[in-house]
Amino acid sequence: MTIESEAPCVAPCTPRRQKDKGEHGEMGERGEHVNHPETNPRSPLLFIPSPARARTPKTPQTPEVRDLQSASTVKDSDPCDERLSKLSKLPQLSRLNANAQEFIPAAHVPTALRVREESNLKEPPVISVRKMASKGCAIVLLRSEHVIELAARMAVAVIDGVCVELRRHSRRSKRDQDALELGIFVAWGHRVERRATVSEEALEAYFNGLSQVSDPQALSYQPPFQESLLLFPLSSSMSCMSLKIMAPQLAEATGQVLLDGPHGRRDLVQTLWDAKLQLDELWNKPPPPKARSVMQRVARDQLFPHSGKEGKEGKEGSHENRAGEKLEELAQAVGLLDGMQPGVVGARFLDLCGGPGAWSQYLLQMNFQGFGFTLRSGAGSEDDWQAEQKDDWYPELLRHPNWHAIWGADGTGDLLKPENLQHASQILRAAGGVSICVADGGFSDKAIPPNLLELYFFRLFLAEVLTAANCLLPGGRFVCKLYSTFSASTSALLFLITRLFEDVRIVKPMSSRVAGPERYLYASGFRANEEAEVIKRSLWSCHVYGAGRSPLQLPLLTPLVVDLHKDAAFLPQLQHMVVTLCMRQARIVRCK
Ligand SMILES: C[S@@+](CC[C@H](N)C(=O)[O-])C[C@H]1O[C@@H](n2cnc3c(N)ncnc32)[C@H](O)[C@@H]1O
Repeated sequence: MTIESEAPCVAPCTPRRQKDKGEHGEMGERGEHVNHPETNPRSPLLFIPSPARARTPKTPQTPEVRDLQSASTVKDSDPCDERLSKLSKLPQLSRLNANAQEFIPAAHVPTALRVREESNLKEPPVISVRKMASKGCAIVLLRSEHVIELAARMAVAVIDGVCVELRRHSRRSKRDQDALELGIFVAWGHRVERRATVSEEALEAYFNGLSQVSDPQALSYQPPFQESLLLFPLSSSMSCMSLKIMAPQLAEATGQVLLDGPHGRRDLVQTLWDAKLQLDELWNKPPPPKARSVMQRVARDQLFPHSGKEGKEGKEGSHENRAGEKLEELAQAVGLLDGMQPGVVGARFLDLCGGPGAWSQYLLQMNFQGFGFTLRSGAGSEDDWQAEQKDDWYPELLRHPNWHAIWGADGTGDLLKPENLQHASQILRAAGGVSICVADGGFSDKAIPPNLLELYFFRLFLAEVLTAANCLLPGGRFVCKLYSTFSASTSALLFLITRLFEDVRIVKPMSSRVAGPERYLYASGFRANEEAEVIKRSLWSCHVYGAGRSPLQLPLLTPLVVDLHKDAAFLPQLQHMVVTLCMRQARIVRCK
């Protein structure tokens, strides 16, 4: 549809329409909230965090912390934020605002025709706008290469109060096969369209407004560091029998536990938390535009293209979901399947907490046979934490002849219940054991306080380690997801793992979100010796102490080993891993 009608506004960011009035009174500001860069903090052309937000560090500053904080000028600032704020500072935009103020008197909204005349354009850049409401996208055909280039480089915009993604569009014209139709494909998605519609008029006004912005060199961006997979070896020199193994007790899951961990760098942990808080405050600045995650995703794709790479669901990867990308990357980096002979007796895997099953699918494709154990959706009480339906095993897996689901003694698949863990271990041992155990347990319960995921995950991590130790064959391999590793409880578990396996590493794959706390453990060469039996007994007593309660009811237990500092090999390696990953995360989430 060609829009020749009068457009309501000329600025590159469009005002929201009356019907969008929201809880923040966001659209009540519609009349006065002309979405131009100087007034709308959420405009793609103006996303500048207030300098007043700079924090006074609460803890003494070390050189690394000072680096993290002082480098926040240009080089290491939050890339998305920086790119947007740079654009806002372009002189051309100030001119545009000045122009806009000149010819938009309060009671006199300019028509598209008038704008065209007044800005001396022979023809406006927009040829046509075709919106596909059912898909939440539009194609804007443009006659100005400059506007196309600018929009494509911006990659995101806020139009009608909605964050949209901008991509170059080109197609052979249906009328004239020799001609190319050029323009911009604008996407916001059908789900967002149901909540807040983006109008054709607003799209037209936005792109016409862009013609007055000169080429923004400032849109160039640099990642704060090169994307790469990270590997950290962990080893120990002392048997756990020569250290103190403690009986478990309840521990409070608080931030203090994380700050006081054996990493010894509470200043860095606090810096990371401050940075996260600042970013959250920035995102929540009113009026928050709809679909803000688009901005994060686009910035992440540009700066760290592998980070959070989608599975087939995102039409990018070859796996059924994102988790599959991570296992494949990790498997190749550490040689998870090297020297294994699929098809021979014992070449079986156990996929723990594995629903919906991309990891099982990957290992089945590699010709292994396997078992899966995961929480059944609906298990757990309503006011507690529950498995989601999306995490149920893929139906193809349940039909696969080389794969079997195990559900535990009570049929719920809840690994936190001691009787279920015992039941699964018995079945697997009776089947001859497994040579690979992979464990990806996790939950995204909103009830978990910010930054404390590691603590609420502790008992599940322990249950995964114990199950692996119960059913791995000598020499077996173990992969397990972890979150931050700040607390003494998690550190003690990692120490015990170095006693159970010959070779242990912590891996941060590129496909694991670069700004997130997630990382993976890879351990190979399972030692089925006397020390392993001692460790298993200790893990079991801890597991039983949890009494099958949910992580929300009983998150954390005290560390099983308290004198880690006596092992000269383990602690420095642990600290190096924790500090490197913490600083890296802080550099990404930090904003000015
Ligand atoms: C990130 S998903 C695993 C994704 C999987 N690796 C894949 O490839 O599809 C985390 C899984 O842990 C499961 N889980 C969480 N708590 C559990 C528990 N107590 N017992 C068993 N499974 C659990 C969740 O239900 C979910 O299926």
